[in-house]
Amino acid sequence: MKIELAIIGGTGFYYPGIMDNSEEFTVKTAFGETQFIGGTYQGLNIAFLARHGQEHAVPPHRINYRANIAALQKIGVQRVLAATAVGTLKEQLPPGTLVIIDQFIDFTKNRPQTFYDGDDEKGVVHTDFSEPYCPQIRERLKTTLNNKGSFFAEKGTYICTEGPRYETPAEIKAFALWGADVVGMTNVPEVTLAREAGLCYANLSLVTNFAAGISPRPLNHQEVVEMMEDKLDLIREVCMDTLISLPPERKCHCWQKENFPLGQ
Ligand code: HPA
Repeated sequence: MKIELAIIGGTGFYYPGIMDNSEEFTVKTAFGETQFIGGTYQGLNIAFLARHGQEHAVPPHRINYRANIAALQKIGVQRVLAATAVGTLKEQLPPGTLVIIDQFIDFTKNRPQTFYDGDDEKGVVHTDFSEPYCPQIRERLKTTLNNKGSFFAEKGTYICTEGPRYETPAEIKAFALWGADVVGMTNVPEVTLAREAGLCYANLSLVTNFAAGISPRPLNHQEVVEMMEDKLDLIREVCMDTLISLPPERKCHCWQKENFPLGQ
């Protein structure tokens, strides 16, 4: 099965749902094994990978991001659309808003971050992140969301924390001063590894709650899951419709580098 398109589902998004001919696969990589579901949507093959596992058993700081991205790369995936749940730092982006992320700030602390550890023939590599998310997929996401009449923000800065704890109000205040719009625990290093692997990658975030100190009550995982459940059908459709409507040719810079160690 040739699969060039993939969805990575986050909290509350554990199954592809609307794909036909779904089948589970295991892929072995140099970084460990990864499971994904392969299937078809409107005749096109799509891989669906649940970042936290299907039972939400893997916390953000223990996700094997390298195995996930290396596995997608290995099966021939070229384009990835990742869904994440986020807290909001902005009144203008209330819970329920979908955000097409265009920048990130990395506040993670203890995760393997790269395919280039400098200890093999690949050597030392510094990857450009002037445009961290694929502009072609982002543009298609806008079109799909407009067609659906959904309320969304066409850009936003995601700050990625280490988790699994939520933030303090003081951290959220500081992040807002840095220019962050939303906060989550999983987009880094997923986005950076995807670029290192030469994959086009975009992120669609659902705002599930006001961030700590902005929210009138303590945060809990249940409200995140409930908001995600509310919007899950929409997110599934938006992700699938966006991927299948992409023109076959990748007109972006995401993969136009000479230094992809996993081979593009
Ligand atoms: N903080 C961090 N991660 C999150 C949040 C949050 O408020 N909401 C959903 N994921």
